[in-house]
Amino acid sequence: MNRMSSAPPTESHVTEDGRTIGPVLMELRNITLRFGGVVAIKDISFDIREGEIRAIIGPNGAGKSSMLNVISGFYRPSEGEVWFEGARRPAMRPYKVARQGIARTFQNIALFSGMSTLDNIMTGRITRMKSSLLSQALWWGPAEREESDHRAAVEKIIDFLEIQHIRKTPVGRLPYGLQKRVELGRALAAEPRLLLLDEPMAGMNVEEKEDMSRFILDVNDEFGTTIVLIEHDMGVVMDLSDRVVVMDYGRKIGDGPPEEVRASKDVIDAYLGVAHD
Ligand SMILES: Nc1ncnc2c1ncn2[C@@H]1O[C@H](COP(=O)(O)OP(=O)(O)O)[C@@H](O)[C@H]1O
Ligand SMILES: [Mg+2]
Repeated sequence: MNRMSSAPPTESHVTEDGRTIGPVLMELRNITLRFGGVVAIKDISFDIREGEIRAIIGPNGAGKSSMLNVISGFYRPSEGEVWFEGARRPAMRPYKVARQGIARTFQNIALFSGMSTLDNIMTGRITRMKSSLLSQALWWGPAEREESDHRAAVEKIIDFLEIQHIRKTPVGRLPYGLQKRVELGRALAAEPRLLLLDEPMAGMNVEEKEDMSRFILDVNDEFGTTIVLIEHDMGVVMDLSDRVVVMDYGRKIGDGPPEEVRASKDVIDAYLGVAHD
């Protein structure tokens, strides 16, 4: 039984958990990605529905980050098609994909360590700025209407993520968990429809993981943001995700609700039974 995939692609449905999941937002069709002789992704297809939290799991080297890079337009697939909002997406530069409402965080923190929390999150507004205003808003800050709108949006995110106390602190001085939260803030500043999170909880302690889990759920709940989440911690995946894609050696070996995936023999053999990290 796969209660979610069985819904027609253009219709919403309510899950057994009472969550409303929308129509298909993105479809990956027969994606293959090669780097020279290395095949990072082998003929993988799956869809992402509006409003869901879609996890991608699998051992190191399985191709998870590569898949996220295909979705974000950072890598162009060797074969296959990306469909977004019912239309095939042509080959597109990452900034254009970002302008379509797709934002991401990285597996390794990619912030400007000398800049404050506030300014780092402001850089997430770039895709929403008129280009002429970009440099001004960031560096010279004349009191223009558009700039104050951006500032207001950033302040809202700072409140939402409960990081008022570090708004002026250079992020390089912050503990790891808070840096990851700032990175989430920067992605949220783009007001994405689709948010891609590459191991947002890797390296965190239990408390930091709980905080991050709560924020991910709140983002999904309050803004209706669709989320693709790469995560190793199976407990977190079970708690957060509506559906899970399982990758192994570039192939898809499972796809369904977390409890179904967890019970699948292929998945247990390839991944869950194997000690990780
Ligand atoms: N830019 C790249 N150039 C060459 N090989 C790459 C590149 N990115 C990823 N790979 C290879 O693709 C495979 C999948 O990597 P990756 O997507 O990072 O896996 P995961 O995120 O699941 O750990 C690995 O064998 C990796 O070495
Ligand atoms: Mg990775």
